[in-house]
Amino acid sequence: MTHSDFDSIIHLNQNALEGVGPLDTESLSLLVKMADQALVVDHGDGDIAGFVITLPPGAEYESSRYRWFEDTLVDDYVYLDRIVVSQNHRRMGVASKLYEEIEGDQPVALEVYETNDVSLAFHESRGFAEVGALTHDGKTNLMLVREPSDDSTN
Ligand SMILES: CC(C)(COP(=O)(O)OP(=O)(O)OC[C@H]1O[C@@H](n2cnc3c(N)ncnc32)[C@H](O)[C@@H]1OP(=O)(O)O)[C@@H](O)C(=O)NCCC(=O)NCCS
Repeated sequence: MTHSDFDSIIHLNQNALEGVGPLDTESLSLLVKMADQALVVDHGDGDIAGFVITLPPGAEYESSRYRWFEDTLVDDYVYLDRIVVSQNHRRMGVASKLYEEIEGDQPVALEVYETNDVSLAFHESRGFAEVGALTHDGKTNLMLVREPSDDSTN
């Protein structure tokens, strides 16, 4: 993700508020500064099909959900702050491709609104399990973690 992607990223994000919190230029810049991974799937000509942003443990991130994982998870982990795929690229494996990039030897943690059936179906298909729930701004978030595969042949 580069600075020139920011307008497209914000546009994508604001069209997916059923699943993610709002972003503007200032909050996206702050998030990307804290991030250890900020990736886009770019089909060329700035046609961004999707993006993902992850944070490492120990970031100065004022988010009750991030703090919950900081307090709950003992080992190193990847916090997935958000993933969005543009509506005309969904169900084509774009999010799966982004996950393949960020999944490694550590657990991956994120929250999903309990009403977000599509995201819950996606994360169930990738082996995420519910480890808790947290209410924020009147919305219940299901707290999900995926343990790394113990397949040592990978
Ligand atoms: C959730 C989201 C990221 C999935 O992206 P995607 O690129 O469409 O997902 P993929 O194509 O990689 O899907 C992989 C698997 O997830 C499941 N899945 C994805 N979308 C689904 C849907 N609408 N209904 C049921 N299952 C679904 C399926 O098992 C799918 O495999 P299949 O297509 O072979 O059946 C996308 O819908 C999105 O951006 N939603 C809005 C933002 C959001 O909610 N982000 C998550 C915040 S926690």
